[in-house]
Amino acid sequence: MDKKKYYITTAIAYTSGKPHIGNTYDVVLADAIARYKRLQGYDVYFQTGSDEHGEKIELKAKENNITPKEYVDKYANIIKSVWDKMNTSYDKFVRTTDPIHEKAVQNIFKYMYDKGDIYKGEYKGLYCTPCESFWTESQLVDGMCPDCGREVKEATEEAYFFKLSKYQDKLIQYINEHPEFIQPEARRNEMIKNFIEPGLQDLCVSRTSFTWGIPVTFDDKHIVYVWLDALTNYITNIGYDPYNCDSKFNDIWPCDLHVVGKDITRFHTVYWPCFLWSLGIDLPKQVLGHPWLLTNDVKMSKSLGNIVYADELADKFGTDAVRYYLLHEISYMNDGNLTYELLIDRYNSDLANTLGNLVNRTISMVNKYFNGQVPDIGTTADIDLQLKSDIEEYINGINNNMDNLHIALALDNVIDIFRRSNKYIDETTPWILFKENNIDRLKTVMYNLLEAIRIGAIFLSPFLPDASKNIFKQINSNNNTLDSVHDFNGTISGTKLNTPEPLFARIDKEEALKNLLKKDN
Ligand code: MSP
Repeated sequence: MDKKKYYITTAIAYTSGKPHIGNTYDVVLADAIARYKRLQGYDVYFQTGSDEHGEKIELKAKENNITPKEYVDKYANIIKSVWDKMNTSYDKFVRTTDPIHEKAVQNIFKYMYDKGDIYKGEYKGLYCTPCESFWTESQLVDGMCPDCGREVKEATEEAYFFKLSKYQDKLIQYINEHPEFIQPEARRNEMIKNFIEPGLQDLCVSRTSFTWGIPVTFDDKHIVYVWLDALTNYITNIGYDPYNCDSKFNDIWPCDLHVVGKDITRFHTVYWPCFLWSLGIDLPKQVLGHPWLLTNDVKMSKSLGNIVYADELADKFGTDAVRYYLLHEISYMNDGNLTYELLIDRYNSDLANTLGNLVNRTISMVNKYFNGQVPDIGTTADIDLQLKSDIEEYINGINNNMDNLHIALALDNVIDIFRRSNKYIDETTPWILFKENNIDRLKTVMYNLLEAIRIGAIFLSPFLPDASKNIFKQINSNNNTLDSVHDFNGTISGTKLNTPEPLFARIDKEEALKNLLKKDN
């Protein structure tokens, strides 16, 4: 039987500079979902990439005395290397300067124009250059750009417009009939109230004031406005072209999930559906508009000097530790906060103590009591049944939370498996069983601990892939499929365990903070 497909995307990151850790959340979050879906047996296609056109990039390149293409080549590589450092398992990294994309965008523009959905007009508005966005008076916050807080300027230019207004009723009806489309629910309400109900104005989709973009084929002083260029990456790279569509497009589309930040949910749930309708294409099944990561409770910005980079943090604490922090601390609905202190506390409590110690203690006990060999099951007791039924409950929690995109809760359920296993050690006190020569009980306890660790490591793999692999190596097992998690007998008696090595060495908080702050100053 053919595997069921699952197509997941992230926002494509701007190549105007190096992405900060907040920008990295998109791809780490999507990676955890993609890996989980693969574990479930889906044929996953995971696409990410870089967004490379626009005035800001043209200006930056000029400042640096290089061509825009040279500039974006450099930053596309940097973005890719950060994504790689974070061990993200994307199948494709797309760039909006890829010829396949540029050609398809030109055809999409022409198709919409011929259809009458794009028309020529004049744009008068308030323009924020860094954000490349026109705003209406009512959208400004204290007279400034609502996204970045900087000044906006009056601007007029001849431009092409997309008839967004034509799709307003259809959009409201669609969102109401498909409550699952925009997640979380509160974000759906925000989209309807703040952006759709006040009325959709036709959208400016071309520019003449700069040149770094995809030219409109039939009027080449115009270039395609960045959001029409950027959003279509989700279809052009899988073979869509209105005039010459690759058959593989229909195998992959519609996309199952777009993972994007809360600030750009609007573009994905208001503009994007209307563009797709204009092309006669089905909508993606779901858009997840996730919250943000703040540093010291404020938005990261160059001017505040509080920007943190994921790759640098991974050099200090390890990739899995950074993945853990991002995935565990940013919840479904609320922004997460990052400080070194919080990171070290989380690391020590969850990774070093709960997980690392459990694995280390268990393997060391099997070494001591059974010469490093997985024992048979001996006599069983009610306490064992309780362990199994609790783990079954955590597994249900993981599956439900993943299905509902509550990724942080799912990860906490995974840690619950390890927390519960530590509690099982306290309940069964293996060292006393050994002292009392109760070997039959001791065998069962050690077997159950190894099996609980194995099950936990399977569910850990979408979140902390390296730690999961390392656990499998230490317990010398390759039984890592989801089919094996319910019977509680997937660990093979007689297997010789490998030498235990610390998964996450405990961090001396004071010492580490002293060093980190010294280096940062
Ligand atoms: N290029 C556009 C996306 C086009 S998608 C067709 C863009 N790029 S970005 O580089 O500015 O942002 C990349 C992603 O990072 C976006 O999903 C954005 O919402 C997200 N984040 C930006 N700051 C963030 C945090 N502080 N925390 C979490 N996510 C953040 O927008």
